[in-house]
Amino acid sequence: MTSNRAKLFVAAALYALSVHVFAQREPTPLVDQQHCMFCHTDDAPFLAPSFQQIAERYRNVPGAAPMLEHKLRMGGRAHWGDMAMPSAGERGGPLSAEDAHTLVQWVLNH
Ligand code: HEC
Repeated sequence: MTSNRAKLFVAAALYALSVHVFAQREPTPLVDQQHCMFCHTDDAPFLAPSFQQIAERYRNVPGAAPMLEHKLRMGGRAHWGDMAMPSAGERGGPLSAEDAHTLVQWVLNH
């Protein structure tokens, strides 16, 4: 029979693992290919708002994710500052809807 202590240990380990995986999982090849870190950082505004600022602004906004996915693919008008987000083509090549989704989920999880 499994002891409660063992069950608790397994549950805690799984929880820690899932938190780690979801918090850290950066879609690195996409991020590199699209040069995200050329203008953005995780936590300090640089040429562009930081991913933490972006996550804070949109995390609880309904419909924000599809809007951002569209923007990642097509570019958009500036509204944080004077500089607009360039389109995917200008950043390093076309971006599929699926990849845009992955990137936006990653940004919003900051
Ligand atoms: C050439 C510089 C540059 C690159 C490369 C770049 N960004 Fe941006 N990004 C910006 C700027 C500037 C803004 C602010 C635009 C604005 O005012 O709406 C921005 C805004 C954003 C926003 C918020 C858009 C909004 O409407 O609030 C997201 C999300 C984002 N970037 C994600 C990414 C991701 C993911 C990548 C890589 C795929 C990336 N960016 C690459 C410059 C860049």
